[in-house]
Amino acid sequence: MPDRTAAVFLDRDGTLIEDVGVLKAPEDIRLFPDTVESLRKLQHRYQLFVVTNQSGVAQGLLRMEQVKAVNTALHERLLNEGITIQEWYVCPHSREQNCTCIKPKPQFVLEAAKTYGIDLTKSFVIGDHPHDVLTANSYGVFGLYLLTGHGGRHLPGLPADKLVFHRLSDAADWIKDHPDPEINLARQIENGAAAIRSGGVTAFPTETVYGLGADVFQPDAVKRIFAVKGRPQFNPLIAHIADMDQLKKLVTSVPDQAMRLMEEFWPGPLTIVLPKCKEVPDIVTAGMDTVAVRIPENPIALDLIRQCQTPIAAPSANKFTYTSPTTAQHVKEQLGSLCDVVIDGGACRVGVESTVISFTGSSPVLLRPGGVPVSEIERLIGKVATPSSGKPTDLESPGMLPNHYAPATPLIAFETIPDNYNDMADVGVLLFEPAARTFAGVVEVLSYSGDAGEAASNLYAALRRLDALGLREIAAEFAPSQGLGQTINNRLSKAARGRS
Ligand code: TXA
Ligand code: MG
Repeated sequence: MPDRTAAVFLDRDGTLIEDVGVLKAPEDIRLFPDTVESLRKLQHRYQLFVVTNQSGVAQGLLRMEQVKAVNTALHERLLNEGITIQEWYVCPHSREQNCTCIKPKPQFVLEAAKTYGIDLTKSFVIGDHPHDVLTANSYGVFGLYLLTGHGGRHLPGLPADKLVFHRLSDAADWIKDHPDPEINLARQIENGAAAIRSGGVTAFPTETVYGLGADVFQPDAVKRIFAVKGRPQFNPLIAHIADMDQLKKLVTSVPDQAMRLMEEFWPGPLTIVLPKCKEVPDIVTAGMDTVAVRIPENPIALDLIRQCQTPIAAPSANKFTYTSPTTAQHVKEQLGSLCDVVIDGGACRVGVESTVISFTGSSPVLLRPGGVPVSEIERLIGKVATPSSGKPTDLESPGMLPNHYAPATPLIAFETIPDNYNDMADVGVLLFEPAARTFAGVVEVLSYSGDAGEAASNLYAALRRLDALGLREIAAEFAPSQGLGQTINNRLSKAARGRS
């Protein structure tokens, strides 16, 4: 074993194993499919500790001996796989109780540092609760947040600057590439900004999907975006800005209703189309006299734009018509060698593209449903014309071609997946929430709690995983058609029309 003075502290439930609520018996342990492989990777360089909060003990739902039996069984199972967990730290209290193990909970972290000679400034915590990440941070440990377990549901409680990952294996890969996380990330952003300033293209995370960015005011650089994506130039781009000052360089006027939406939803997943300043190059707007603008809600994106000191034109960082990328890995698989820099900021929290709304006619028009539900927009400014309300908007938003957002595998979307799919082993199944029935094929569940926000953040990653299996077909189930469910269904319908 190499001399490892850094550690990774792992949460147990929802991080290493499925969170089943009160886990009393070893036979109910269910490891995630990538747990073993991830821990193997991590232990090359890190000592591994598990810190688990079992408040069921204090609540009388669970006995400490039961927790210990589960931990012992899990320890042995991992040992058989060649993985050593140094210590299992258990806090039996609920978060509200003023115990010394939980307040501060990293009491355990300090104890490990003392006992095992751990350098906390080079260490990581991985967990599926904001608490895991926040308390780790207060001791100089870098926290990574997982969307497994309760992660999707508690995501709104996680500060915007914390990195999130779909799976443990994604977090393990990120740690491998970022042993000095703050410095490594800062360097990537600096390199990305330098590339954009000098006319290059940088892929960067936003809260919706990864973008492929260039300086709005360098037409040749913007041209490269189209070349890299293989996207026709009649397709206009979104200009990403960091503040309202930058808006003045792009648009000539902002109607009151648009201003209200900006005040409410910026920074955030809402793009607004407005009359453009003549200085905005034609290549950005496909020759139209309007420009699409948004302030993203991702600290890395904002930092990048500020360092560039210019608005960044960016479409999603995928090949034309393909599913948008929600991780840096997705970008690298398709466009890696073609980008000057790919900034790896983990997974995108919202997971679907921004809502696009146009204010260039007499009344607002929804051009694309997205990360802000239409109902929330209408709550503020009243009824918005939508494509389904009879208005042909494909011409106004040339990017809304029907064959967008598609995986390579043929996809069919259903309200309810028909029974004859139960026995098809060569078909992938994409479920909105868990189903009582079983399928012979590979199943992806978008949200275990039936939450549309959680489902949206998993949608494209799940589609890509299914797409990578070389299946005959993907059968997808529509989400309940409210809030972000409408956006999910829009993307599933478009994916279902294929890539012809
Ligand atoms: O969440 C997002 O919006 C992501 C991230 C990177 O910000 N970007 C994104 O860009 O999805 P893209 O290029 O894939 O989609 C931009 C959409 C297209 O539907 C395009 O037609 C529309 O915005 N759009 C851009 N400029 C427009 C304009 N001047 N008038 C009408 N629609 C416009
Ligand atoms: Mg957990």
